[in-house]
Amino acid sequence: MPKTSALQEFYKKTLDERLQILKETTGLSDEDLAQLKKYSALDFETANRMIENVIGTFALPFGIATNFIINGRELLIPMAIEEPSVIAAASNAAKLSRSTGGFKAKASDPIMIGQILLVNAKNPEKAIKELMINKQKLIEFANSKDPVLCKITGGAKDLQVRKLHKMLVVHLLVNCGDAMGANAVNTMLEGIAPKIEELTGAIARAKILSNLAVHRTVHAECIWSKKELEESTKGQVKGEDVVEAILQMFDFAEQDPFRATTHNKGIMNGIDAVVLATGNDWRAIEAGAHSFASFGKHQYSSLTKYSKTKEGDLQGEINIPMAVGLVGGATKTHPIAKISLKILDVQTASELAEIIASVGLAQNFAAIRALATEGIQAGHMKLHAKNVAVNAGASKEMVDKIAEQMIAEKSVNAQRAQELLKQYQNK
Ligand code: MEV
Repeated sequence: MPKTSALQEFYKKTLDERLQILKETTGLSDEDLAQLKKYSALDFETANRMIENVIGTFALPFGIATNFIINGRELLIPMAIEEPSVIAAASNAAKLSRSTGGFKAKASDPIMIGQILLVNAKNPEKAIKELMINKQKLIEFANSKDPVLCKITGGAKDLQVRKLHKMLVVHLLVNCGDAMGANAVNTMLEGIAPKIEELTGAIARAKILSNLAVHRTVHAECIWSKKELEESTKGQVKGEDVVEAILQMFDFAEQDPFRATTHNKGIMNGIDAVVLATGNDWRAIEAGAHSFASFGKHQYSSLTKYSKTKEGDLQGEINIPMAVGLVGGATKTHPIAKISLKILDVQTASELAEIIASVGLAQNFAAIRALATEGIQAGHMKLHAKNVAVNAGASKEMVDKIAEQMIAEKSVNAQRAQELLKQYQNK
């Protein structure tokens, strides 16, 4: 674990300097560094084992968010993402949280739900009764299909039945430990389905894991002091006013699904980037998160909550399903995912889930703090201005100069970039 994740001006370092820092702080080996420098760490053979019909690999930028303290641990966060400003925003949110001790997060037990749809039951009430009488036997039979998981986590724990119009839905609850669990759960479901058909006289139509992982959630929280919040505006807005403005942004997301969708998209910017970097299934996490945002509520709303502490500081919280694993899937086959897990140095999937939820909260705080104060474009402008300068044909030496001048003039556009380029070229 690094002594501190508050790496000074990491963004200004060269690639070799950044890699050297990672080697010194996280224990990456020279081999890992060489892998990172390859720019196509995923070779054809590995890629071809992961999916079908491979014709190449699709690369994304892979970066490090700094400044995080999560459950008392200094952490550098690996993120794979194509969108500018996300890593800078997460690092900044984490920086502002350091004075209050960073993030505290707690994952529930890693319990996944597997579903079996039962149709054509002649007597649904009798079928439910039979299932309840034989519940323990069914659980034991499910566990016999995955003795390894059963030995480590206890495996299947419970079996429940829901009535859905004319249909019945069986839920098998399985402790998946350090696996995401899709394979284990689906195998158990297919194993017990014929027994369930026998007991109920119904047809087991579908046997599949549910991505609405309501029993596998993480709660993360963090306090941002009003002093830090005031400083984040360079003293231009009072801390109390920043807190109030962020609370209004939260209210907006709570009340309005149009805003909540974008608010939650900001959360997923951070979450997906870490989920992807660690080789986990980001579509499963996305589906679960968005469904959870309206689960048990009258409409889709915010996945985070904000309140004011009695000291007048800002308290942020997130509660979100987080079905991620450390074994199986791409976590063990993708060379960069392996490096990500090494950087995070996590021992359990629950620890990884706690980190990911904290990054989601940081990302959301960063977005709504910016929206509530200087606006979102200020942070985006630096990279945007550079891109405009590059597109105008600026050479490596001129990009920064032209970008800085356009920002200072508040005139970031292709025409101004062309004009400045001509001026510099004629000097
Ligand atoms: C952009 O990727 C994410 C934001 O729109 C999130 C938000 O509005 O809260 C900035």
